[in-house]
Amino acid sequence: MATNNGVIKLVAGNSNPALSGAIAAHLGVPLTKAVVRRFADMEIFVEIQENVRGSDVFVIQSTSFPTNDHLMELLIIIDALRRASGRRITAVIPYFGYARQDRKPGPRTPISAKLVANLITTAGANRVMTLDLHAGQIQGFFDIPTDNLYASPMMVRDIRERFDLDKLMVISPDVGGVARARGLGKRINAPLAIVDKRRERPGESEVMSVIGDVKGRTCILVDDIIDSGGTIVNAADALLEKGATSVYAYITHGVLSGGAVARLAKSRLKELVITDSIQPTEAVATAPNIRILSTAPLIGEAIGRTANEESVSSLFD
Ligand code: R5P
Repeated sequence: MATNNGVIKLVAGNSNPALSGAIAAHLGVPLTKAVVRRFADMEIFVEIQENVRGSDVFVIQSTSFPTNDHLMELLIIIDALRRASGRRITAVIPYFGYARQDRKPGPRTPISAKLVANLITTAGANRVMTLDLHAGQIQGFFDIPTDNLYASPMMVRDIRERFDLDKLMVISPDVGGVARARGLGKRINAPLAIVDKRRERPGESEVMSVIGDVKGRTCILVDDIIDSGGTIVNAADALLEKGATSVYAYITHGVLSGGAVARLAKSRLKELVITDSIQPTEAVATAPNIRILSTAPLIGEAIGRTANEESVSSLFD
């Protein structure tokens, strides 16, 4: 595909082949032939098997579990492309791992998200494209252009198709997520409530209070990440105890570590909707109460626009 910026090349890491393939299909651009393999001692070796000299290259790789392997793979792919004279290299990172380590929680602790941003830049990326960063200001950890895409328009489309909007209430599962939940609520004209988690004294369990009247409402919890599932399962219980009729969750990144799928199966949450920013495990893909929306059209469109020097932000107007 030739664009305003020359030939586009799409290179996929191993973190999410299904999504990379779907993005390639959306753009009508084949994935560039490349091999990523391991030496006997598990060192990563990359070989780009096509000419990329002078190309506008997009490397698609989520730094999801196993995070360190996928991150290292991304860095080595970027290095290979830079040495092969790729003209512009965009790291497309649908799920940006380490994002939750974006500040020092205590003395003598790292800011790992900043370290990861430095590594990606030093490897040779010229741009970064990512999705629903844990905190928007992580963009500032990069000194190269960084586009943070939003899954909310596709979630809003899904919500409009499935729910009676008059009965809906959008819920932030913690105080930190209020801006994100409010943004989605505004698009569907739904009121907002907040679950406030508080540990009164060290060692005591958390008390959940609900700010807002959820009685008789269909509640939609909105968050960027679901990991152990604890936040969402506890929030769903708190909402149902306050009289909510049913609780659903729309969450961009399904990290779903450990026993999260089993915890959700046993929970009172009606349905969890996630995106494919992280390749679903078999357990996630077959869970009866988890549904997955594809980000391929969104990311494909954003890549096409970047290649053509067109506005990306207008995708979210
Ligand atoms: C935290 O700030 C994030 O936005 C999520 O709420 C958190 O990562 C969810 O984790 P878990 O599912 O383990 O409760």
